[in-house]
Amino acid sequence: MIPFLDLKAQHRALEADLLEAAARVLDGCQFALGNEVAAFEEEFAAYVGARFAAGVNTGTSALHLALLAGGVGPGDEVITVSHTFMATVSAIRYAGAKPVLVDIDPASYTMDPRLVEGAITPRTRAIVPVHLYGQPADLDPILAVAKKHELLVIEDACQAHGAEYKGRRVGGIGHMAAFSFYPGKNLGACGEAGAFVTSDPDLIAKVRMLRDWGQEKRYHHVLEGFNYRMDNLQGAFLRVKLAHLPAWTEMRRAHAAAYRELFTGSRVRFPREMPYAKHVYHLFAVMAQNRDALHRILGDKGIATGFHYPIPVHLQPCFEHLGYKKGSLPHTEKAAAEEISLPMFPELTEAQLREIVAATKEAYQG
Ligand SMILES: Cc1ncc(COP(=O)(O)O)c(C=O)c1O
Repeated sequence: MIPFLDLKAQHRALEADLLEAAARVLDGCQFALGNEVAAFEEEFAAYVGARFAAGVNTGTSALHLALLAGGVGPGDEVITVSHTFMATVSAIRYAGAKPVLVDIDPASYTMDPRLVEGAITPRTRAIVPVHLYGQPADLDPILAVAKKHELLVIEDACQAHGAEYKGRRVGGIGHMAAFSFYPGKNLGACGEAGAFVTSDPDLIAKVRMLRDWGQEKRYHHVLEGFNYRMDNLQGAFLRVKLAHLPAWTEMRRAHAAAYRELFTGSRVRFPREMPYAKHVYHLFAVMAQNRDALHRILGDKGIATGFHYPIPVHLQPCFEHLGYKKGSLPHTEKAAAEEISLPMFPELTEAQLREIVAATKEAYQG
């Protein structure tokens, strides 16, 4: 059996450090925010290359608070992609704004910057590019359009911890960014967690209040806020894991390079690693015309695969009211029909990788 990801292997290797971190928090009895969260915020902001980070309970909350801190609300429009996880678009709805969805570039599978300017209206307030699968969206042309029209750029970096765009880490390039530490992410907590990142002192001050009931100090609620605090336990676990992230990233990249090399000459297609990108391979996506059959054949051989994502957000029943139809976003719909993710995690062995490639090639021949 080859799992899709192997958190047990990761946790076995870090067991002593994780247990010690948990013991520290149990001893201190500070559970909602606290000293470990504060230390993690400093360490993570430094890692990203931004001035500030705020620990929150999920990546979705980080996106929601970024929009609110940026003044986005009812009547506003926010441009993003449909080829993403639900949360990107739902966060825009949480803020009361209207998501305006543009298609992806069919080479990179991230936001097509050429489509952004045409989607801007007098109500547009922000653009949310998504660094999907661990590859940065093409930020420079997006930032240029945003500057021209005075819009905010909020990076959805939930799948891209440590990814780089033209040599700079994502999350520190737009005005604000959201990271998810859902357990299966490249940097994952042992439960739910997320972070908001910015270099703007006013925005971080707002988000720090908003995540904790809008309090300026205890029981002084200057903003209508939320209970979006990060657990101190998660802060402690994330500090242990952050130290290993650079090594894990290099392992993921080595696996991706091996996949690409072993698939050379076969009919297997995958998103292009763009020249501007240091891709961190949260997922190793493959495009297959008959991906349901490939999923079944690999499954029968004990190889787990995933779909990211099989139904585009604009065709989900809950978003019917946005008014998109089948055919609205052709590249997005093609990606949703063809994408299948192969196992990808740092601890993947060379033997496992060769077995996956051989089974995939054989399935293609059949
Ligand atoms: C692209 C993207 N955006 C947002 C999120 C939301 O993060 P969370 O699950 O931590 O709320 C995720 C997580 O799955 C994601 O992949």
